[in-house]
Order: sequence, then structure tokens, then C-alpha cells
Amino acid sequence: MSKKSSWRSRLSFYLLAIGSACGLGNLWRFPYIVGENGGGAFILMYVFIALTVGLTLLIAELMLGQYFGASILVVSKRVASQQKKPYHLFGWLSLCITAVTLAYYSVISGWVLHYLVQFLMTAFHSLDSSGVAQISMGSLYQNSWLQFLLASVHLLISVVIVVKGFSDGVERWITSLLPLFGLLVIILLVKSLSLDSTPDVLRFLFYPDFSKLTWASLGHAIGHVFFTLSLGFGTMVTFGSYFKTDEHLPGMGFRVAVVDTVISLLAVLLIFPIAFSSSKETLTDPSLLFEVLPQFLSKEKSGMFFGLVFFFCLWLAALNASIGLLETITANLVEKRPDLKRSRSAWISGFAILFITVFPAFSGTLFKNVKLKGHGLIEVLDSFLINGFLPIAGLGMVIISLLALSEIDRKKLFINENSPTSHSMYSHWKFSLKWVVPSAIILGIALQVISFFL
Ligand code: TRP
Repeated sequence: MSKKSSWRSRLSFYLLAIGSACGLGNLWRFPYIVGENGGGAFILMYVFIALTVGLTLLIAELMLGQYFGASILVVSKRVASQQKKPYHLFGWLSLCITAVTLAYYSVISGWVLHYLVQFLMTAFHSLDSSGVAQISMGSLYQNSWLQFLLASVHLLISVVIVVKGFSDGVERWITSLLPLFGLLVIILLVKSLSLDSTPDVLRFLFYPDFSKLTWASLGHAIGHVFFTLSLGFGTMVTFGSYFKTDEHLPGMGFRVAVVDTVISLLAVLLIFPIAFSSSKETLTDPSLLFEVLPQFLSKEKSGMFFGLVFFFCLWLAALNASIGLLETITANLVEKRPDLKRSRSAWISGFAILFITVFPAFSGTLFKNVKLKGHGLIEVLDSFLINGFLPIAGLGMVIISLLALSEIDRKKLFINENSPTSHSMYSHWKFSLKWVVPSAIILGIALQVISFFL
């Protein structure tokens, strides 16, 4: 992505922003988070949060980048020196979160690679599909070296793409495959919805039973919205920095948030009927997607083919997201230290992240005794990172954008004089940024802390 060049077209933005939003967060993480938080009521809350808190922050981050033409480290530094307060720490927090997320994301992408290879082997060695049905997450989870190896391969591919400067092209190429992936998901969805369990699933997913919500559910919804919309990482600030200041970004942000939310909803509709008709044990577990889908496909006609294409597309989506995460880190480092070459900065980040990868990769063996309330290291890491630190980084983004942009600047960037609703949207957005987002984040974190001690 050539920095500072303005967007060739809006389409490029959609491809990159939707590409960065749609990934493992939608297909792997969302379904089990819904399972963990009891279904319908959580989904309702999630959609509400995505379109209020999420959208507000998405627009704010894009606008920050657009205004300063820079990434979050530089932006937060400027605000810190203007205000003479250590706001730059928020920039560093975002960057650290991005690095740890990429490490953990690489491990999960490695799981996807593992299944992809298994499907490939089954397709080429024999047509007997029982092989794939027998792979269980349990055995992969115990094999930490394999997880580390797969994560390293995934990370290496991402670094090479970023170093070679192909990321712009590759991201676009991968994202243009998203419609194919969408089509595949819809075919699988039709198959899945024709299972007998569907009525139960629809009741579970769309009949809101608020008694199933826990104290931590609000925090989980906010954390997941931030994760899936790539908020709090500084990614959207970097994306915004490629725009000229005469573009109006709110409408684009809205479309990205809607597409991402629809994809997440399709993902639960795909996974739950299958999960309900097999065992419900994995419903609340990170292994949900990986346990349920291959089992189902191994019984279906042409299941091996669907499995192969599905896991390939899923891996490409994960690769796309990983490139986005690494690009964010690289763009920040290069802006901070212009003497550092881009390729060098990507390699240094890659190695640092590989080191962090050891923790999630070895969570089932070396670190198996690291447990908090019965949860292993990988789940604890996920929870602290996504439900705790990420919302705090989001709060940092709110504070920075409230301090950095004057009312006049904000209005100029937000309001599109050609749109009659733009003025009233502006006042809603501002209210949400100033009051709704911070209160939701603080409440979400406070309730999680309470639930921890209950
Ligand atoms: N949103 C991505 C997903 O749902 C994950 C992600 C988080 C991401 N932060 C990002 C992707 C930054 C690209 C850039 O899978």
C-alpha cells in the first residue's frame, strides 16, 4: 500500500476495510462467543453494540487518520505534546495489542492450515472421508510444536507479502475472492439449515432469553465488536490516513459495519444447526468451528470438495487479516522511525511476534498449568486481550479523537452537504462518541470485574 497516495477509488477502501473486518473473528470466534453467552439475547445486544458503539468508533478512527494523514503512534504523540499529557501511551497500547493479536491470530490460522492440509490429503490419497472426521482439535491442541510450526509458516507468508510490498495487490486479490467464499457459505448454510435441528437453533439464536446473559456479556459483546471491526488497533486510523480530507467517510464506515455484522450472523446460522445435531459440548469452546464443520462435511456428498474450498477460503481470509495487522505495525514503525526500512521493520515485527506466538501455541502442553478459573492460557489470553485491553484502547481512541479534532474540523469531515440527514447524523454521532461509547466501555469492563469476583 503506497502511503499517502489518495485512494484510487472507493472500491479499494471497501475491499481493504471489509477484508480486514471479515476474518476468523466472524467465522471462528463469533459462534462460540454466542454459545458462551446463551444465544438470542446476546446476538441482539451484539448487533445493537456493533451499530452504535462500533460504528461510532469506526468513523472516529477513520476521521483521525484522515485528518492527520498519519497512523496512531504519530497521532497520539501529537495529541500528547499538544495537551502535555501522556496520551501517546494509548498509541503504544494499540500497537502492543495489534502485535499480541497477530501472534494469537497466527496460531488459530495455523489450525485452519492444519485442517486444509488434512482435507487436501484426504482428497488426494483416498476418497474415504472418515480421515477428516477423525481429526480432533484435542490432538492438535496437545501437539504444540505442530501448532507453532503452522503458525510460523502462516506468519512467514504474511511477512514475505508485506516485505515484498505486495500487500496491496494480495489483499485486493484475496478480498475479491470474498464473494466466492460468500457463495460457498450460502450453499453450506442451505445444507445446514435443512437439518432437523434448525427449529431449535432458530429459537436459540433469535428468541432472546435475557436470563441467559451473564455479568460479563456486555464486555464480551463490546470486545468482539472491536475485534471483528478491527477497532482499537489503529488499523482504521491507518486506512483513514490514505484519504484526502474532502471525502466523507461515515457512509462508508456504516456499510463496512453492516456487511461485517451480516457475515457474522450467517456464520452462526451455518454452525449452530450442525452443532445442535451433533454434540452440544463444544458450543462454548474455541474448537467449535473446527470440531463441527469437518464432521458434518465428512458425511455429506462432495463434502471433501466443500471442505477443501471452505478451509482454503477461510485461510485466505485469515491471511488477509494477518497482512492487515502486520501492515498496521509496519506503517506505525516506519512513520516513527523513517530511517528504518519498511522491509526491515516488517522482519523485526515478524520475529518479535513469532516469539509471542510461543505462548498460545504451547498453551496445551508447556503452559498447561497456567489456568484461571479453569480456562487455559489461550482462552485467558483471548479474554484479557479482546475483552479487556482492546476496549481500553478503544477508549483511548475516543479520548484522542475528542481532544485532537475541533468541533469545526469534525463537522467538516463528517457532514456531507449533499445529504439531507448528515447534520442530524452528526449530532447523534457526537453524542454517541462523547457519552455512549465511553459509558458502554467502562460499564462493560466494570461488570466483567464484578463477575470475576462473584
Ligand atoms: N477483524 C478481523 C477478524 O474479524 C481481525 C482483526 C483485528 C484485524 N484487528 C485487525 C484484521 C486489524 C486486520 C487488521 O478476523
